[in-house]
Amino acid sequence: SRSINLAVIPGDGIGQEVVAEGLKVLSAVLPQDVKLETKEYDFGARRYHATGETLTDADLDALKQHDAILLGAIGDPSVPSGVLERGFLLKLRFAFDHHVNLRPSKLLPGVATPLAGQPEIDFVVVREGTEGPYTGNGGTIRKGTPHEVATEVSVNTAYGVERVVRDAFARAQARPRKKLTLVHKNNVLAFAGHLWTNIFNQVAQEYPDVTTEYIHVDAATIYLVTQPERFDVIVTDNLFGDIITDLAAAVSGGIGVAASGNINPSREFPSMFEPVHGSAPDIAGQGKADPTATVLSVALLLRHLGYDGEADRIDEAVAADLTERAGQPARSTSEIGDALAVRVAG
Ligand code: IPM
Ligand code: MN
Repeated sequence: SRSINLAVIPGDGIGQEVVAEGLKVLSAVLPQDVKLETKEYDFGARRYHATGETLTDADLDALKQHDAILLGAIGDPSVPSGVLERGFLLKLRFAFDHHVNLRPSKLLPGVATPLAGQPEIDFVVVREGTEGPYTGNGGTIRKGTPHEVATEVSVNTAYGVERVVRDAFARAQARPRKKLTLVHKNNVLAFAGHLWTNIFNQVAQEYPDVTTEYIHVDAATIYLVTQPERFDVIVTDNLFGDIITDLAAAVSGGIGVAASGNINPSREFPSMFEPVHGSAPDIAGQGKADPTATVLSVALLLRHLGYDGEADRIDEAVAADLTERAGQPARSTSEIGDALAVRVAG
């Protein structure tokens, strides 16, 4: 019989509230014969204040035992900036080799966008997740003096670039429009730019049915606003991906609906699914947070584990719920979760 052994990390702020709704919908969508086991972990600001720890080796060993991880949000104003980001989130992405950071953007009917009209937005960004300037390869000399020098080296390996480019080609080929855009800055970042462009062009030869294009990252920010319909799948490095996926979320309904997966496609380690939004301490505990991004992250989780039908049901439920939302009075976090749970079960 089938089973899902899930690690649940509610985290800080609204993380607790949105994860509860994500689990509610997950339980509702799974067929009877799938056994769902969950184990909650207390990572985040409280644990950090109590023990000084963010994520230990023992924690990683415990998390490794799970099929997947559902994360709410980590971060609190009481913890210095960067401590939990690097000590928890990035540490986990690197330890579990989450090299595919998957961030879909789809503008659903009834969802407001700051763009003019109601453009067709349906693309997915495949952001590299373990290299680039995120590796901590840098340093400072003459710190604190007027002559301080800081370097932050962007690490790009042929191995790391090829595997994420291949993943993106496969995803593009599986979509109706079969188009893949490489976003980089190869006119200025000549070394990394050459590596990315060269590997992209080589792998492209194995996918003759996938249309390819190359766009500089600065130009891509223009097109994401003026012609978002031109994108189908985008592949890019860790930092460019970080930046353009915030823009992508902003044009396609905002962070209330932006989902993401930190994926290890080989399944050697569990993948982690999380809403793109943060812990929003200003509205925490008030039942105001929209759990939709977490629910959509649960759909990504199910798809990763091979439950495509269940993932589709969640996506359809969210689309229907958002369509009906227009003009209705605002609902609480748990009211939205309840409505989605009813829809996926029905
Ligand atoms: C994200 C976040 C993280 C990132 C931070 C919190 C380290 O912005 O998931 O996009 O830069 O990747
Ligand atoms: Mn980000």
